[in-house]
Amino acid sequence: MGVEIEVQNLTKSFGKQTIWADVSLTLPAGEICVMLGPSGTGKSVFLKTLIGLLKPDQGHVFIQGVDIATCSERQLYEVRKLFGVLFQDGAMFGSMNLYDNVAFPLREHTRKSESEIRRIVMEKMELVGLLGTEHKLPGEISGGMRKRAGLARALVLDPEIMLFDEPDSGLDPVRTAYLNQLIIDLSAQIEATFLIVTHDVNTARTVPDNIGLLYHRHLAMFGPREMLLSSQEPVVRQFLNAQRIGPIGMSEEKDDEEKEREGDQEMPPLPPIPKQQEPSNGQPRATQREPGAWCREHGITPPPGSFEDSMQLSGGAA
Ligand SMILES: Nc1ncnc2c1ncn2[C@@H]1O[C@H](COP(=O)(O)OP(=O)(O)OP(=O)(O)O)[C@@H](O)[C@H]1O
Ligand SMILES: [Mg+2]
Repeated sequence: MGVEIEVQNLTKSFGKQTIWADVSLTLPAGEICVMLGPSGTGKSVFLKTLIGLLKPDQGHVFIQGVDIATCSERQLYEVRKLFGVLFQDGAMFGSMNLYDNVAFPLREHTRKSESEIRRIVMEKMELVGLLGTEHKLPGEISGGMRKRAGLARALVLDPEIMLFDEPDSGLDPVRTAYLNQLIIDLSAQIEATFLIVTHDVNTARTVPDNIGLLYHRHLAMFGPREMLLSSQEPVVRQFLNAQRIGPIGMSEEKDDEEKEREGDQEMPPLPPIPKQQEPSNGQPRATQREPGAWCREHGITPPPGSFEDSMQLSGGAA
């Protein structure tokens, strides 16, 4: 049913460069979270810290009572078995065909027979729509197919926690829509805890239960999707609506001159909050909330037109 990850006061630097400081958040068991942030704000570093590939300078990451930040290599090895990870570059072995790439974690971490491995590999290949390409080398397929092969590999150990680093970068809009549907369907099926790093605002607006935003060396906000999509906080608002007006500039933060020039240009009104994308079989996910529930509970009036089946471009395959 997925595993909770509790991050407390996490700080990471490389030499004198602080990447982010004092990050605290809880990834709730079985929920989907998206982490956003301008390029270079340390999203990939954050994912790598969660699986213990990078050690934080301060803080804790608790998973099933084990603190990843301070535990032994042995404990780390055990906890890692809970994870399925899709790295930003897909991280396929170039000299192995897709079948062997996807089978790799099973051969490495389990004592399953080759026929059992074959069953699992083919099942995951089918799930990501890659049946028939098992014999191809990573170099012989498109970037989007490599991503999906990476996804199949991340799935073979039946993970409790799925970490995806930009699964949708380099995908065309149609493939992105399919991938998002796949993530929702997977979540419904395996009920793992998901953390997805993405730059795609449409994905962030429609897929997750919760959204986080890293900005300017700290976690600007983390919370339920409706909380961030109805937030008036300028950084959150600018990022989630992909706008030019606001505190974020081309070089991360705008300088005084730029701010001056913008003067008191007002940010455009908040667009409607779209409905969350649903599983394709129509059955709600275990952790899915009613549209508008968070807003109601918190006495927030969502922007006009929210949660209506509208004409708006939403990642959901209509
Ligand atoms: N192993 C490392 N050693 C030193 N610095 C690093 C290391 N890994 C990352 N960094 C630095 O940490 C910062 C954040 O990098 P990271 O890759 O996490 O950014 P990101 O938010 O994932 O960016 P993007 O959206 O472009 O993928 C960058 O300045 C990068 O140079
Ligand atoms: Mg990155």
